[in-house]
Amino acid sequence: MNIREQFPIFQHFRHINSCSHGALSLGVRKAYEDYLNDRDRYGAPWGYWVEQLEEARSLIAGLLNSPVDRIAVTSSVSAAVNGIAGTMDFSGERNRIVATDFDFPSTAQIWHAQESRGAEVIHVKQSPDGNTIPFENFIEAIDERTKLVSIPHVCYRNGAKLDVKPIIDLAHSRGAMVLLDSYQAVGTCAIDASALAPDFLVGGLQKYLLGSSGTGFMYVKDDQSSAKIPTSSGWFAQSDVHAMNIYQNEPALDARRFEAGTPNIPNLYAAIAGIKLIQSIGLDTIEAHVRELTGALKEGALQRGFKISTHLDADKHGAMIAIKSTDMDKLVAALMSENIGTSCRDGNLRVSPHIYNNMEDIEYLLNAMTKYKDLLV
Ligand SMILES: Cc1ncc(COP(=O)(O)O)c(C=O)c1O
Repeated sequence: MNIREQFPIFQHFRHINSCSHGALSLGVRKAYEDYLNDRDRYGAPWGYWVEQLEEARSLIAGLLNSPVDRIAVTSSVSAAVNGIAGTMDFSGERNRIVATDFDFPSTAQIWHAQESRGAEVIHVKQSPDGNTIPFENFIEAIDERTKLVSIPHVCYRNGAKLDVKPIIDLAHSRGAMVLLDSYQAVGTCAIDASALAPDFLVGGLQKYLLGSSGTGFMYVKDDQSSAKIPTSSGWFAQSDVHAMNIYQNEPALDARRFEAGTPNIPNLYAAIAGIKLIQSIGLDTIEAHVRELTGALKEGALQRGFKISTHLDADKHGAMIAIKSTDMDKLVAALMSENIGTSCRDGNLRVSPHIYNNMEDIEYLLNAMTKYKDLLV
């Protein structure tokens, strides 16, 4: 079957908004039906549900080229980052978190929430035109006071993709840890956590991985480090989930120590179906396809005189292109009335194609934007 045909939405609507939420596939719909059928048939098949958790963990590990015991399955990126923050002691000389101007609100807000525990948070500045963060700015910001560098792989506002390996290596050479937020990248390109070697890598299932909200994940480079025991916990974070020991917290030694309560079971079914679909297509195929579509979008937008906020170099952006608008909410609504799904942030229209989009979607969108050009800069 053609990939697009697996997404019924395209029969009536052009969804080009995967940076916000991926489209619903037949496979993910069936996964939810399977969950309901399992409840009808078995009531509470906990053994199978825990197997689903382990299958999701192992698929995420495969996706990130990570050993399976270094993956925690969380309820969101925010939950994962809160867990990481809870491992940290900010009382010493190294009390500084180096975040960026490109951070998603959650990660930045969680770091600022640590100020009451002694953390100092600074933000690495974006370039004057706002479409990248120069590496020199990281060289200036990271020093012997830096405990952790928190970087987004791809910026949620403008699609800017950071060349993360040199930043990770720089941070490590200066004795700092790194958190890489790959939510806007995962599912659009291959990510090798073992090769990149950030201390933590976080992401979720709702966007380009084609699952749903309610499931996030974390890769933890350093397993079994007692120095990194989170202050958040729960029975699914224990070394033995069946121990039921209320007199002691005995966290798992592997990444599971970052988990908490009952997993989000319906969304685990969806996560498994979403990742399997992505794997069956292949990340290199997806990356090449998305690059073709974003290339055509940039070219068509420039030809029509629209202003692009995203860096024009294809190596410096992810699957999303941001286009300047005079009234972004009105523009999104106008495009919605033309049966085109987009989103907006920071004065920009966000267009984020995925494997199910095609050139016709881009052409159709550009023509609709021309119709509403008074809403574009
Ligand atoms: C880059 C990035 N990080 C984090 C998040 C938030 O993730 P969660 O809601 O799972 O905490 C988003 C959501 O859009 C995002 O784009």
